[in-house]
Amino acid sequence: MTVLILTSEEDVTADMVVLRLGEAGVPVVRLDPADLTNGVALSGEYARGACRGRLSVGGRLVDMDGLRSVWLRRPGTAAARAAQPSAWLTEESAQALYGMLRCTGARWMNHPDAARRARYKPWQLRLAQRAGLPVPDTLITTFPQAAREFAGRHPDLVVKPVSGAHPQEPPRAVPTSRVAPDTDFTAVAYGPTLLQRRVPKRADIRLTAVGGTLLAARKPVAPDAHPDDVDVRFAPSNAPWAPAPVPPPVAEGVLRYLRGAELAYGAFDFAEDAEGVWWFLECNQSGQFGFVEMDTGQPIAATIADWLAGSGSPQAGLLDDEEFSGF
Ligand SMILES: Nc1ncnc2c1ncn2[C@@H]1O[C@H](COP(=O)(O)OP(=O)(O)O)[C@@H](O)[C@H]1O
Ligand SMILES: [Mg+2]
Repeated sequence: MTVLILTSEEDVTADMVVLRLGEAGVPVVRLDPADLTNGVALSGEYARGACRGRLSVGGRLVDMDGLRSVWLRRPGTAAARAAQPSAWLTEESAQALYGMLRCTGARWMNHPDAARRARYKPWQLRLAQRAGLPVPDTLITTFPQAAREFAGRHPDLVVKPVSGAHPQEPPRAVPTSRVAPDTDFTAVAYGPTLLQRRVPKRADIRLTAVGGTLLAARKPVAPDAHPDDVDVRFAPSNAPWAPAPVPPPVAEGVLRYLRGAELAYGAFDFAEDAEGVWWFLECNQSGQFGFVEMDTGQPIAATIADWLAGSGSPQAGLLDDEEFSGF
């Protein structure tokens, strides 16, 4: 049974997983949907009540029925590198490829439907609340008056994008920033604005979840850090990420979250306050893990490889909580 990895050629993080799978003797096919129909070919036949899909890449033919798992890592836009690319060819190619892959019994990391839904930050915040994770008070609004009232109740706020990175090519991270006390909120009328209570934090937490395996890393905030340096990605800190134990209630909440979101992989950001509480900020269903593995030595790539090579239900190892599945 083969593992299929959909990602771009430049994805060095995927190389780490491919290496592991190779060492374990697990057959792997890696392709970028951008190379359809120029290097990657596909075929699917529906006949006599059955369906048979095949992929060809680098001269290798793969039966889609023989796929054990699909890792939807960082796939390029379908047919983007075709000899004559067009929006029409992209749509046709994406429909054909993902449509056929959906017909297989392969387990997904992560399933495209779950992945799409999991990107909505407003939905993430609600799911985290329902999963029992502490969520800082948050307002997403285009009502200036609502923003003013919220700021009145929460004098120390941050602002960040609702959708995450700015969709330019390549996408640009927009730093979470502190809101000045005398801010005029009139402009929120022009675009949804996400305001959140700033967590006075002593550390940032990155928790990587692979199936039921949770690997947390912690980066302490420098004692002389300025409260305006909110975003860990832009803060002037040289402290490396270090492995951290996951408090049991957080582990429980994260597993409930993954189950509710139907995700096999998630990169969670938390802010740890002075009392040691981990406040949920977001869960990125395709979050990078290479930098954490590099700092901490945590075996994230190997855990992903094990999951992809394994069998059983995609949600194996997660809490079995009938009342909580999906919402
Ligand atoms: N309410 C908050 N309090 C303190 N720090 C925050 C808060 N929200 C975000 N941050 C910091 O900003 C970073 C980016 O915010 P995040 O919610 O992960 O949004 P995104 O990564 O989608 O831009 C976090 O990893 C954290 O370091
Ligand atoms: Mg983040």
